[in-house]
Amino acid sequence: MKGIVFTEFLEMVEETFGLETVDYIIYKSDLKSKGVYTSVGTYDFFEMLSLISNLSEKVNIPVNDLIYAYGLYFFSVLHKNHSNIMDLYETPFDMISSIENHIHIEVRKLYPGAELPTFKIIKKDDDFIELIYYSDRGLYMFAKALMEKTFEHFNKQANIEFELLKDNGSEVRFLITQKNGES
Ligand code: HEM
Repeated sequence: MKGIVFTEFLEMVEETFGLETVDYIIYKSDLKSKGVYTSVGTYDFFEMLSLISNLSEKVNIPVNDLIYAYGLYFFSVLHKNHSNIMDLYETPFDMISSIENHIHIEVRKLYPGAELPTFKIIKKDDDFIELIYYSDRGLYMFAKALMEKTFEHFNKQANIEFELLKDNGSEVRFLITQKNGES
């Protein structure tokens, strides 16, 4: 996992829960990096799991809710750093259906060593997409948050449903329906 995901995560924790909580979860987690991250470095995903589960215990919020909240936050980070990529898209469906064959391909060039999910489009028409998320990291709530933010970015609304195809969240079906009338 890229360092930017760690540095921004710790930034969100600091903004939301304060610096003491950041220090506490770093101290409590078993971190090879000792909690020192550079945005271009690559670190073990286990460190993120450890930080999130210690945060979950400390603030009494379920892990998946924290992952979702972080996805909402991370969208602004992506927008700030990579608006040139996002600006190529005119609709949320164009953007979401291009993650696999354009966006994350560019990401791989910009962030060597990035660990990215796979999205397989099953069905697509004007106001509906069915896709499957595949990733050993099981960050489907992160994906859901980024999808919601993508709609918000284009001033559109959608209903996003999902179904775990594997219990560990490594394979998840998403059904996304755009609500009409809103622009
Ligand atoms: C300009 C747009 C985007 C950029 C620049 C971008 C970039 C990135 C980066 C840097 C990572 C971290 C990789 C790592 O830690 O090794 C990542 C992960 C991820 N991205 Fe994107 N992304 C974009 C849009 C999206 C969108 C719209 C989605 C919506 C579903 C998405 C879904 C994900 C997910 C779920 C992960 C976590 C990795 C995993 O699940 O295995 N991305 N992305």
